[in-house]
Parts: sequence; C-alpha cells; structure tokens
Amino acid sequence: MTATRTGRTKSPQINTREPIIQEPKRSESEVEPEPQPEPRPQPESESESEATRRDAGGPESSRANRGWWDRNADDYQVEHGTFLGDDRFVWSPEGLDEIEAELLGPMEELKGKDVLEIGAGAAQCSRWLAAQGARPVALDLSHRQLQHALRIGADSVRLVEADATALPFADGSFDLACSAYGALPFVAEPVRVLREVRRVLRPGGRFVFSVTHPVRWAFPDEPGPEGLSVTSSYFDRTPYVEQDEDGNAVYVEHHRTVGDRVRDVVAGGFRLVDLVEPEWPAWNTQEWGGWSPLRGNLIPGTAIFVCVRD
Ligand SMILES: C[S@@+](CC[C@H](N)C(=O)[O-])C[C@H]1O[C@@H](n2cnc3c(N)ncnc32)[C@H](O)[C@@H]1O
Repeated sequence: MTATRTGRTKSPQINTREPIIQEPKRSESEVEPEPQPEPRPQPESESESEATRRDAGGPESSRANRGWWDRNADDYQVEHGTFLGDDRFVWSPEGLDEIEAELLGPMEELKGKDVLEIGAGAAQCSRWLAAQGARPVALDLSHRQLQHALRIGADSVRLVEADATALPFADGSFDLACSAYGALPFVAEPVRVLREVRRVLRPGGRFVFSVTHPVRWAFPDEPGPEGLSVTSSYFDRTPYVEQDEDGNAVYVEHHRTVGDRVRDVVAGGFRLVDLVEPEWPAWNTQEWGGWSPLRGNLIPGTAIFVCVRD
C-alpha cells in the first residue's frame, strides 16, 4: 500500500463514481451559502490508482487535484475534522496553533483585517480569524471542500471557488494572506501563486504558508520505522503522481527543496522573515498519514514560510 503525501489518505484508491451531491462549479465564483447535507461515508473505491514519479504540468495538476479533493473531501473531513477543530487555526499535523504561534502577527491586531486564506478546505482557519474580528475570504479549488465549510457554518466567512494560480480579486484587496498546506504543495508553478498573492496584498502585508517539509521527500511517506530510511534523492524534483489505468493523473504533488522554496518566495516579490519548523509536541499522540510522533521527534515534517510584501 502506498500513501498519498499531503492528501494523507491511507491508500491511493480512487472513487470513480459521480460527484456526491452535484457537479462542482467549474468557474471562479462565490459559493452560495446554502445548507448542505452531512457528509456521508464513501463506498469502497472501484479501482486503484498507481503511484509514480513523473512530470505533470500546471493544467494537469489542477485538474487532477480538483477531482481528487472533490472525491475525497468527505473522507478527509471525517478523518481530520476533529483534530483541525471547526474554528481553530492549525498550521500542520504537529498541531501548531496560530493562538500560540502568532505567525500572522499579534492576535489583538487581527481585528478589522482583510485576510485571504488559500486552499482553505472547510475554512476552519478562516472561521477562527473571523472570531478574532478579521474579515476572512476562504478560497479553494474544490467545490466539495467548500461545501464542508458551509456544513460547519460559514456565516462569517466569504467562500470563493477558484484556483490559487489566478486569484479573482483586485490588486491590494487584503492585509494578510495565509495557507495551511493549501495549494502550494499541489501547484506546478508556485511562483505564479506567490505573485498573485503579492498582487492582492496591500504593502506591508504578510503571507504565511505551510507545506510538507522538503526533507520528507527523501523518505517513504509512512508513519512507522519504514518512514525513517532515505529511499530517494532529496534533490529529485519529479512530481509525485497518482494516475489511473489510462495514465491520467488523479492526484499530484510537487516537490521543492528548501532552497527552491526560498527562491520562489523571492521571485514572487516577497521578503522571507522566518522559516518555522514546528517540533512534535509531547501532547500530540495522533498520526496523520505519514506524520507521526515517531518521525516527528526525529525529522521535521512541516515548513512554514513567513513572508512580507514590502
Ligand atoms: C491539505 S488540504 C488543506 C486544507 C486546510 N487548510 C486544512 O488544513 O484542512 C489542501 C487544500 O488545497 C486545495 N487546493 C489544491 N490545489 C489548489 C489550487 N491550485 N488552488 C486552490 N486550492 C487548492 C485543495 O482543494 C484542499 O482543500
């Protein structure tokens, strides 16, 4: 059994049946706040995908990941929703909480701020931001993920269905931007996202984003001892791709080294002011895909980039 990487399911099985509730909106649009049914357990998948490393461009990555997150949003929220909390801001599987980290700045200064969350999923982080008095906009590629935002309750959060590589906002619309494992691990051209975020931020704005720590790519994505031996080159940037029997990508993640990420941030027009590597805390006994106390105590699992738009 192979594991997806950031998607963090237990197997690369895919669900080939029709979308669960309705065909996801494919245009960049605001998601109407209509009530949605409770998530239902997914049936056993009908076919298995193959995990490989091969090139995957921007359109192929977006298409595959939109489909994957639409099909797997229910499972993801069932598996991780309790850990994430409905209105907490958790940066990573280590459990680093914005309440203690204050990577977006002092909590008391969030009030009245326009904040963009990218790859928001069910918008848990945005809901926490709204509770602090901020005005969050939660953007995600996946219609089904945003439906979970509606299910949890998104009264205080504007939801926008769009690709992070083309943000549907005017220049200088936001004071802050954030992303907890959203979009950046999945896009072929991260500089496009960074440039877009810079464009929509006001001068002095911060963009803080977390991704899988690049060193993890040298290890199997397994939580146990088998995940502690280097099996591939850290320097191999070939994307991780799950593909169906016809060779169509159904899930894609892109690897960047630490140096690549720093160069991307600079090329995107930002100044890097911190790179946070959360340590595994003693209280967290929970595994999350390949993230586990065993590995977390030995090697970093998450990298959080704190960037400023001057
Ligand atoms: C690992 S989840 C993180 C969601 C949320 N921050 C959390 O911690 O649960 C990744 C999210 O990024 C979204 N995503 C992937 N590629 C994207 C893209 N190109 N543009 C916008 N969102 C994207 C997925 O739909 C998914 O909801």
